Amino acid sequence: MASVRDTADVDTTKPSQQPCSENPTRSKYTFDTEEIPRLSCKDPLAEKLMANERPVVLTDTNLVTSALHWTIPYLQENIGSCDFSVYSSTNNKFKYYDDKKIRSNKDFIPPTRRTEMKFPDFVNAVNAAAPGKDRLYLQQTLNDSVGQRIVFDFLNFNWNWINEQQRKYNWGPLTSNLLLVGMEGNITPAHYDEQQNYFAQIGGYKRCILFPPEQFECLYPYPVHHPHDRQSQVDFDNPDFEKFPKFRNVKAVSALLGPGDVLYIPMYWWHQIESVEGHGMTISVNFWYKGGATTKVEYPLKPQQKVAVMRNIEKMITEALNDHQEVAPFMQTMVLGRYLPTNPST
Ligand code: SIN
Ligand code: FE
Repeated sequence: MASVRDTADVDTTKPSQQPCSENPTRSKYTFDTEEIPRLSCKDPLAEKLMANERPVVLTDTNLVTSALHWTIPYLQENIGSCDFSVYSSTNNKFKYYDDKKIRSNKDFIPPTRRTEMKFPDFVNAVNAAAPGKDRLYLQQTLNDSVGQRIVFDFLNFNWNWINEQQRKYNWGPLTSNLLLVGMEGNITPAHYDEQQNYFAQIGGYKRCILFPPEQFECLYPYPVHHPHDRQSQVDFDNPDFEKFPKFRNVKAVSALLGPGDVLYIPMYWWHQIESVEGHGMTISVNFWYKGGATTKVEYPLKPQQKVAVMRNIEKMITEALNDHQEVAPFMQTMVLGRYLPTNPST
């Protein structure tokens, strides 16, 4: 897979139509950032980017036009009395962790707390939030227990368009739609997912910072057995360059999403997503699809295929040793003095 900078011939200098006066976030971090192209979904270049698994912001899919009237009061009125998963954090970060991996990692302290609550209770808790108090982020897979009007809006998503994309790019089935309702300033730190994602923005603005799968070694993901599997260990606000020296080499692409925009986040692409301050709460819906089956393997493997291979090998070693403390010394024994470039026989 070629570098993301191959998209540099795209004219990304078109002024944004969005009335969002974001603080200049690009200077906030230690790395350089280029804008992800914003294109019509009918633009052949957009199709080319998606076919090559590169991110693109699509401005006119109408994917969630039927939901653009969603506001917090509208959701409160219409979403029903079902339970929603709400995460609380003592800071602005909501780093994902896998509950299933906590048992074998006894020292792990979850950085956020999950509570099940009704939507009005979530809204009350948000209204009670103040500086120094916990922040909240609702993240709930949409199901048919929501109210009738929400079901109606959901059925009126542009399924024709998205089904067509799924067919064209040979993806597997839609696995879920995650509804995200966040307080301004909330950050989902950098991680990658093992699914294709059309990320649709409905309310408020989100700054999405992406890195291609070939930057795996610059982003230092946690070990696969760790509850923070797939998340970067690097604190972007205060990177520890001694521990993570290659983080100096990362280069990001980034987009500001407003209502109606859809960002294609290709499988295995790293992404950090930030609810922009000063524009109210954010409402988004994810469309996650299984990746397509590879019919013919071509060499060299693509960076994302190598990530998948590394994950499988790491999982196998961890399972075989049955003690994750043994994994690092075991892998070192395999490599040190044998497969290092300093050894001329390799
Ligand atoms: C977010 O919008 O905060 C996270 C969504 C994702 O990582 O897919
Ligand atoms: Fe994600």
